Amino acid sequence: MNDNTDKNKKLRDLYEQVMLPNYAPADFIPEKASGSSVWDKNNKKFIDFGGGIAVNSLGHSHPKLVSALNEQSKKLWHLSNYISNEPAINLAKQLTDLTFADKVYFSNSGSEANEAAIKMARRYHHEKGNGRDEIIAFNNSFHGRSLLNISLGASDNHRKGFGPFPAGIRHATYNDLSSVKALITAKTAAIIIEPVQGEAGVVPAKQEFLVGVRDLCTQNGVLLIMDEVQSGVGRMGNLFGYMAFGIEPDILTSAKGLGGGIPIGATLTKNDIASSMSVGSHGSTFGGNPMACAVADKVIEIVSNPNFLQEVKEKETLLVNKLEGVSKKHQAFREIRSSGLWIGCELNNNGEVNELLDRCYESGLIAVSAGTSTLRFAPALNISEDEISEGIERLEDALSS
Ligand SMILES: Cc1ncc(COP(=O)(O)O)c(C=O)c1O
Repeated sequence: MNDNTDKNKKLRDLYEQVMLPNYAPADFIPEKASGSSVWDKNNKKFIDFGGGIAVNSLGHSHPKLVSALNEQSKKLWHLSNYISNEPAINLAKQLTDLTFADKVYFSNSGSEANEAAIKMARRYHHEKGNGRDEIIAFNNSFHGRSLLNISLGASDNHRKGFGPFPAGIRHATYNDLSSVKALITAKTAAIIIEPVQGEAGVVPAKQEFLVGVRDLCTQNGVLLIMDEVQSGVGRMGNLFGYMAFGIEPDILTSAKGLGGGIPIGATLTKNDIASSMSVGSHGSTFGGNPMACAVADKVIEIVSNPNFLQEVKEKETLLVNKLEGVSKKHQAFREIRSSGLWIGCELNNNGEVNELLDRCYESGLIAVSAGTSTLRFAPALNISEDEISEGIERLEDALSS
C-alpha cells in the first residue's frame, strides 16, 4: 500500500498537525468495531484485548447499549442539574440497591469522581468540626490527571512542571500496613486506595492488607475511599472489587466500564457522609447526563447478573491458561497477574513493552501497557472464547516476530 492509498496514514499525519502532543497513539485509525473486533481505515481487523483500558465492558456496539442510547437520544439529551432526569434516578437506584451505598453523585470521568470523593471526605470532617483534612494515598497508585489526582498519585513523571500542588496528601506503601499505621494522625481525614493497582501493572492488594486498612480506618475515625474506576463494574469478576475482600468502603468511585464507552463518573457513599454535602457545595454541568445514565443503567443491569460475573471468572481462567502456555513457549513473561478479566503480564525484558505493543498492532491485536514492562489486557467482559483464541494467536505472532 502506498502513502496515497493508505487512509490510516493520511489521518495519522493530520493528527500530528492538529493534536496536542501528550499521547503517542498507534499508527492506525479505527473505522468501526463490533464485539471485540475493530477494523481500521484500511479494513485491517484487530482483536481488542485492551477494551479501551477497561472501558468497553460489553465490547463495541453492544445491541442493548446501542438501543438504550438510541431510545434516550430521541427523548432527552440534556437539561442541566436544575432539573433531574429518569435515567439518572434509575441508575442511582440500581447502584444503591446493589452496593454498600445510600447516595450517588454523578460526574463525567474517574478524575472527577475522585475529586468529589476527596471533597466529600474533607467536608464530612469539616462539618464534624474535628480538624481532619489530610489524605493518605499510596505509592504507585493512579487516580487521574487533575492537579488533585496527580498529587494523590505518586508519579514524578505525571507531576513534573505542574506544581504547586494541593497540600495535605501523604503516601504510604501499598501492601505494607505498618506504613499506613505510621502516617495516621488526628489530622487524617481519609485513605484512598485501589483494590488492585491497575496502572502499576495489575497489582492486587493482599486480603489481610486491605482488611487491615479498613480496620485502621474504623478504629481511627478515618474514611476509606476505594477508587474502583478501573476495578469496578465486573472487571474483577465481582460487581465491584471491594466485594471480593469482604469489606465495605465509606466512599467508592466508579467510571470507565460504568458507561461501557460513554463518559460517566460516579461517587457512591453512605447517608451520613452524603449529608455533609449541601445544595451548591459541589456540581457538574454534564454529570448525570441522561444519555450517559441510560447507557450505564443498561451496563449495570447486564453486568450485575451473577451468571455474567461467573463467566468473567471462567474467561479469566481460560485467558490466563492460554497466556501461560504462550509465555512458556516464547519465554515471554516473568509473571502473569490477574484479577478477573484484568491481566498484567510482566515482560522478561524490562522496558520493551512499547515495542511489543507495536508488534501486537502489526499482528492485529490491541493491548495496552502499564508502566514500562507490563503488557496489560482488559478486554470486554463478554469477549467470546473464539475471540480469546484469535487474540492469543495474534499475540503469539507478535512474540515470534
Ligand atoms: C484507578 C483509576 N482512577 C482514576 C482514573 C482516572 O480516570 P479518568 O481518566 O476517567 O479521569 C483512572 C484511569 O486510568 C484509574 O485507573
